[in-house]
Amino acid sequence: MINRIKYCIANFKMNKNRTESKEYIESIQAKFRKADFASNGDNIRMVVCPPFHSLDTTQIKASDNHGIYIGAQNIYYLENGSYTGEISASMIHEIGSKYVIVGHSERRTHFNETNEQINKKIKIALDNRLRPIVCIGESLEQRKKGLIEHTLKEQITIGLNCIQDYSIILAYEPVWAIGTGETATADIIVETHQIIRKILNDIGFDGQKISILYGGSVNRNNAKELIALGDVDGFLIGGASLDVDHFWDIYKFIEESV
Ligand code: PGA
Repeated sequence: MINRIKYCIANFKMNKNRTESKEYIESIQAKFRKADFASNGDNIRMVVCPPFHSLDTTQIKASDNHGIYIGAQNIYYLENGSYTGEISASMIHEIGSKYVIVGHSERRTHFNETNEQINKKIKIALDNRLRPIVCIGESLEQRKKGLIEHTLKEQITIGLNCIQDYSIILAYEPVWAIGTGETATADIIVETHQIIRKILNDIGFDGQKISILYGGSVNRNNAKELIALGDVDGFLIGGASLDVDHFWDIYKFIEESV
């Protein structure tokens, strides 16, 4: 059996100011100090993705004990130039962050991001030694129309076109489960993760070697059951990650499962 790295990733979205983000990291570090397990071993990683303006302050704090990785929530797909309001992969790398979320459904929906643009973002992230957390998932409408596999195939084949790099991480986030309190069932998650691994195989990856996370209303009450599913390699967590105790409990469930 291949041992894939498991991830516990917090996506703050547009929440928390700099002080709150910094205190969050300090609080996690205090929890690690008290816990009887080390942070971020070979099998598990914690990544916190605050808004851009807190990347530097959280990065400095996180580097204190080499425990917590910091990630950005987005990047632009070009290196530099006249793109007011955008931020490049090299700028994120310069801060010291190691991860970036790419293609979150909120970016696809509210900012009209296409699979082609997401492909460029993944490439430029990799070029700048950032590990992309690539979000995919079907909308409720696509699910109702039986277009789940079709949607995922399109997102993966176009999103990963001309990419053969095993540092990518996928996050399956059904749009209808994000922020709704409606988690996908175990059956749906297992079936879909298997579909995703098959699509990865079809485009030349070994799907068994890529970590696939689940995201969509994960919380401390459902995390234990979900991480027990063999194909789930951790979580991308929005709402529940805003409460540090809640996020820590979810991390512990993952830690216990590795
Ligand atoms: P949620 O968000 O945990 O609040 O559903 C997940 C995400 O958007 O990544």
